[in-house]
Formats: sequence, C-alpha cells, structure tokens
Amino acid sequence: MATISTTQIDPRVLSFLEKPRKMLINGKWVDAVSGKTFPTYDPSTGEVLAQVAEGDRADIDLAVKSARKAFDEGPWRKMTPSERGRLIWKLADLIEQHLEEFAFLESLDNGKPLTVARAADVPLAADLFRYMAGWATKIEGNTIPLSVPYTPGAKYLSYTLREPVGVVGQIIPWNFPLLMAAWKLGPALATGCTVVLKPAEQTPLSALRLGELIVEAGFPEGVVNIVPGYGETAGAALAAHADVDKIAFTGSTEVGRLIVHAAAGNLKRVSLELGGKSPNVIFKDADMDVAIPGAASGIFFNHGQCCCAGSRLYIEKEVFDKVVEGVAASAKKIRVGSGLDPKTQMGPLVSEEQLNRVCGYLESGFSQGAKAAAGGHKKGDKGYFVEPTVLVDTTEDMKVVQEEIFGPVVVAMPFSSADEIVPRANDNVYGLAAGIWTRDISKAHRMAESFQAGTVWINCYNIFDAALPFGGYKQSGWGREMGHEVLNNYTQTKAVCARI
Ligand code: NAI
Ligand code: MG
Repeated sequence: MATISTTQIDPRVLSFLEKPRKMLINGKWVDAVSGKTFPTYDPSTGEVLAQVAEGDRADIDLAVKSARKAFDEGPWRKMTPSERGRLIWKLADLIEQHLEEFAFLESLDNGKPLTVARAADVPLAADLFRYMAGWATKIEGNTIPLSVPYTPGAKYLSYTLREPVGVVGQIIPWNFPLLMAAWKLGPALATGCTVVLKPAEQTPLSALRLGELIVEAGFPEGVVNIVPGYGETAGAALAAHADVDKIAFTGSTEVGRLIVHAAAGNLKRVSLELGGKSPNVIFKDADMDVAIPGAASGIFFNHGQCCCAGSRLYIEKEVFDKVVEGVAASAKKIRVGSGLDPKTQMGPLVSEEQLNRVCGYLESGFSQGAKAAAGGHKKGDKGYFVEPTVLVDTTEDMKVVQEEIFGPVVVAMPFSSADEIVPRANDNVYGLAAGIWTRDISKAHRMAESFQAGTVWINCYNIFDAALPFGGYKQSGWGREMGHEVLNNYTQTKAVCARI
C-alpha cells in the first residue's frame, strides 16, 4: 500500500483494504477453516494490496452445504418470482450507489484504468442485474398437445415446468472481476438457484464487496456464498463436488477441460466460456475513420485481456499499409500507466504470470520472423506493463497467430478476397468472436453467416449488452452468457402429463 497515493483513493476503499477480507458462507463473514490468508497484489507496483481468506476444500464443503440448505429448505424457493426480481433489482441499485468504490477496487486489484471501470465495468454489472431481475417473472414453460397413438380416444393435458437446476458452482476470471460475477450471479438468482462463487485469486476484492451488498439487499442466507481461493484447491474442489448440480466456468480452455473431467463424477451440468483468437477483417471499402480506431480498440481494450479480443487482424491487401500504419500510430499514442492516473488509457497486465506469458509470446513471434510495427516490449521496471504491440510479417503457422496471447498484441496479415479470407479466419480451434469492416452490407451479412463464431460484430467491436447472448463455437465454450439464452444454463425442464 505504501506507494499508492492515499489522497486519491476513496476512503471507504482504504478501510476495506485494511483488514484481511473474510469469505461469505451462510450469510456470515468467516475466516478460512485453515485460518490461512493469501495476498492480492496491485499490478501497477507488484506490491501487496490486501490479504484475503484462503478458501480450500473444507470451506467449499461448508459453502456447498449452506447453498444446498438454502435451495432445499430456505425461504428462497418459496419466494415469488416477483420478490426474487425485486431483490436482484435492489442489488443493482446498491451497485450504482457504490460505483466509486467498485471502480477503485477494480482499478487497484486488476490494474484497469479507473475511468474505464467507472464507465464500463460497474454500470454494465448493474445493468446486467436489472436485465436479469426482469426475467425472474418471465421464466415460462409450454402447453403441449399430445397424440399418443397407442391410447386412442384418451385426452391429456401436458405442460412443461422450467425449474432451477439447484446448487451452482461458479468460477470466474480476473479480467472483468465484478462484471464476470454479475454475468454469473444474475441468471442464477433470476432462475432461483443458489450459488457458491469462487472469484479469481488475482482479483477477489470486488466480488467480496459485492457480497456485502448482497447481504445488505436482503438475500436469504446461503443463497450466495463467496469463497476466494486458488484454482487448483478451492476451484477444483467446487468443480468436483458431488452436491453441486451445475458448474459455470469462465477462463482458460486448459482449465475448461479440467472442469469437464471434474464434473464427470456426478455428471453435473457444465457451461464454459473459454478462450479466443478472434479474426477482425477489414475490407478496402471500409470507412477507415471508423475501422482503424475500431481495430485498435478491438485489441487494446482491457489491455487485450478479453476472451473476444480482435487479435488476428486481416486487412485487404490494397489497404494493408494504411491500416497497419493507423493501428500502429494508435498503439504508440496510448498512454500506459497506473490505472489510478486519470490520463492513463492502458494499465498494467493483471499479474507477473501474465506479463511473462505475454512477453514469452513476443519473443516467440520475433524468433519466428515477426516484426513490430509498434511496441514489442515490456514497459518500465516496476509493475506488469507491456507496450501496445502490432506485429507484422506474421504467418499462419506462428504461435502468435494460432494461440491466445491475452495481452495488448495484435498480428496483422494481408488477404486478397472475401473467398480467401473466410477459411483463413475460421482456421483456428477457437470460435468466440469475429469482426468485419465494410460498407457493403450484403458482403457483411454473408460473411457474418460464414464465420464460425458466437458473436460477429459488423463495423463495431467489443459491443456487449445484457440482452445479447455471448459465448463460443468450437473450443471457445459450451452454452451462452447473457440474453434469455443464459437462462437455459440454470433451468431444467420437467414434462408433466395428466390424463383428463
Ligand atoms: P485460469 O483458467 O487458470 O483461471 C480462471 C479461473 O479458474 C480462476 O478463478 C482460477 O482460480 C480457476 N481455476 C484455475 N485452475 C482451476 C482448476 N484446476 N479447477 C477449477 N478452477 C480452476 O486462467 P489463468 O491461469 O488466470 O490465465 C491463463 C490464460 O487463460 C490467459 O492467458 C488467457 O489466455 C486465458 N483466460 C481466459 C479468460 C476468458 O475470459 N475466457 C479469462 C482469464 C484467462
Ligand atoms: Mg491458471
């Protein structure tokens, strides 16, 4: 804490950081059973920001027990949909009332600019809860006319009930700590599930503050339990737990596979939101005043730490030099610094591990013949900063073109026609998002259909909305977040058939 200028930070945040933060189990704030805590760091300095209770298998057991009881016996199941919706709406109001605190916590814990957390992360989280509050009263089944050929003359009344799946384990990453908690909690609460949430070990703070507001809003005890801790211990225990009915995960594809294996024991339901290496395709007929800054923000937003980052930039060859020059110029202009500095446009990466990972990819690219049109290096000696980077002279076989870097690094490559670019854009194990920039609306929609991606942006990028489903084709995941589609992740269908 020593080097952070304490005058800038909201005093409520400073007092939040002072004492080790506890975990939320059965409506109470408790220490870990082991008594252990772990540090969370300020990535702009590498110094310890706060201590947090370190959950492990024993804490996960207690949290699952509490969620089970709240689901099976508590007042939650008996609440009307409208009452549930009102609680969720109240939580959204509380988030808005504490917007400044959340913005500081996100900036300090994750490194992102305070200005971005204020304008994007926190308002989007509140909006998501409001959207889901509305759904609580609209989760409906169907009536189904039957024919049943082997009971001629019989009459039936048949209908479906959509019921909550039960106790849900949710494991989230560090790139949008509060927003990922909202994406997960919103639909689980709207459908009437109970939850054990495990935030990422790099960024547990905003989820714990959210837990305080969940208690304040009046959710019954045990409906939401929050257990911070490491993935290999707390996360793995949650994914494998026999009394958890469903696991929802956002993070690396590697861990996604582990989750699937861990879930096999009791065949719990699984939804996954995993990695990406999304193509962003600029045609020569695009409006360059929009496309060039769009391509830059498509990769540099959130320091490239977005699963849907437009990290493979394909540019029609006639405009290749112009676009690369423009994106490189934008990269060089980005002000990189501490997230708390109001002039900062890009903060540090979240951790030393991510810094090393991204720098490893840069070295790999250079060793395979890539050149930097902008950036290419770590920045400064303190904190986890990387220069916004544009790589050229890259070919499809390079690791930097095939693999997710999850940092501010884009590879730019020329293409010669719409027919050529579709198979190239689709030639990747991931399928999370794709971007197209053109003035030709027919071409744009034809291309949108051809991309193997869960989201296609046309003449825009990184547009998220609570109403718009988000998720992956291929190895980018299973199921959808947001929109009414996410409700499928948290409900199961019961068919009722009555002879009348
Ligand atoms: P990760 O997948 O290890 O971490 C994400 C979450 O999973 C964290 O809460 C972590 O504690 C938990 N976790 C880790 N191991 C687990 C296990 N064995 N069982 C259950 N839970 C476990 O991601 P990490 O290591 O932080 O980042 C590595 C790479 O993953 C990044 O470079 C990026 O490529 C990708 N990633 C993708 C994200 C996305 O939004 N799709 C978010 C974060 C990372
Ligand atoms: Mg990991």
